[in-house]
Amino acid sequence: MKHVLVTGGAGYIGSHACKALRAAGYVPVTFDNLETGWRDAVKFGPFVQGDLLDRAALDAAFARYNPVAVMHFAALSQVGESMQDPGRYWRNNVLGSLTLVEAAVAAGCLDFVFSSTCATYGDQDNVVLDEDSAQHPINAYGASKRAIEDILRDFEAAHGLRHVIFRYFNVAGADPDGEVGEFHQPETHLVPLMLDAIAGKRDALTVYGTDYDTPDGTCIRDYVHVCDLVDAHVLGLNWLENGKGSRVFNLGTGSGFSVREVIDHSRAVTNRAVPYVDGERRPGDCTKLVSGSTRAETELGWTPTRSTLETMITDAWRWHQTGHYDT
Ligand SMILES: NC(=O)c1ccc[n+]([C@@H]2O[C@H](COP(=O)([O-])OP(=O)(O)OC[C@H]3O[C@@H](n4cnc5c(N)ncnc54)[C@H](O)[C@@H]3O)[C@@H](O)[C@H]2O)c1
Repeated sequence: MKHVLVTGGAGYIGSHACKALRAAGYVPVTFDNLETGWRDAVKFGPFVQGDLLDRAALDAAFARYNPVAVMHFAALSQVGESMQDPGRYWRNNVLGSLTLVEAAVAAGCLDFVFSSTCATYGDQDNVVLDEDSAQHPINAYGASKRAIEDILRDFEAAHGLRHVIFRYFNVAGADPDGEVGEFHQPETHLVPLMLDAIAGKRDALTVYGTDYDTPDGTCIRDYVHVCDLVDAHVLGLNWLENGKGSRVFNLGTGSGFSVREVIDHSRAVTNRAVPYVDGERRPGDCTKLVSGSTRAETELGWTPTRSTLETMITDAWRWHQTGHYDT
């Protein structure tokens, strides 16, 4: 069976990707330092505990498993933290990815799938965000991801590194089988924060900013179910294996929901009150991020099936109530 090196495979999205890869007939090899991930989330293939900045550990993993491709999820990804400590983000995300890319090229592993983000586009009011839109990130996290995209392009030109870049919008939901799910400590994502508040595990959800230029004043985001998202990654891997060459794809549904709308849907799905308070804007947050592209559907044949707010919140709520990792 073909092995795929999955960096960040112990994290939220990477663990779901490992499940999808396994179902598609690959052996996912998780390479993760467990900085924000969980050993318990590695269920579908071997585990290598290692850091992206450790070239020797990467070389050993490539030598041992001889992967046909890399899926690179490992990163620090909190916008607010990236504004307070940008050096940590540039070192971990950019230097770490550079080390990984150099190790992959040295090992002759030239198919590479990368987790980028809509945060690379920045705050562009009234602009339809497609893959050709200008990238003007307004936080260090987004800037670090844009820099990695540049690294991939340079390594393709110099060393033939074929890559698929996925720019995710907001990822939510959980594996409907309950084997893996979202668990960050600290949590910064809207849906799990809200479910914690509903379940009484935190006082109240803070709505960061109610004076944005949107119909109800709260930020608007495009939500995609984690299972749909990782299905696109398997299609992206097949795309590279079929020799179709490097390509960038947005992964979003094209529908935007405000924070208040997500609160309303959560109230309806859980049939419980959502305790929340209105707060100040957070530095680095964009007003509206919604995908304006259907390239993933038309070119990759991606068909999201679970990316309605109802299904995402239902799946996340089920995981919230029954799933957990040992901490
Ligand atoms: N969750 C979202 O909504 C979202 C949106 C856009 C992009 N992304 C991107 O998707 C990827 C996965 O996000 P996630 O939500 O699953 O995050 P996560 O924090 O759950 O997972 C990241 C994993 O990477 C590991 N890691 C981090 N730095 C590492 C290093 N130097 N060496 C080895 N392992 C390291 C962590 O331990 C963790 O297991 C990230 O690259 C993130 O930027 C996520």
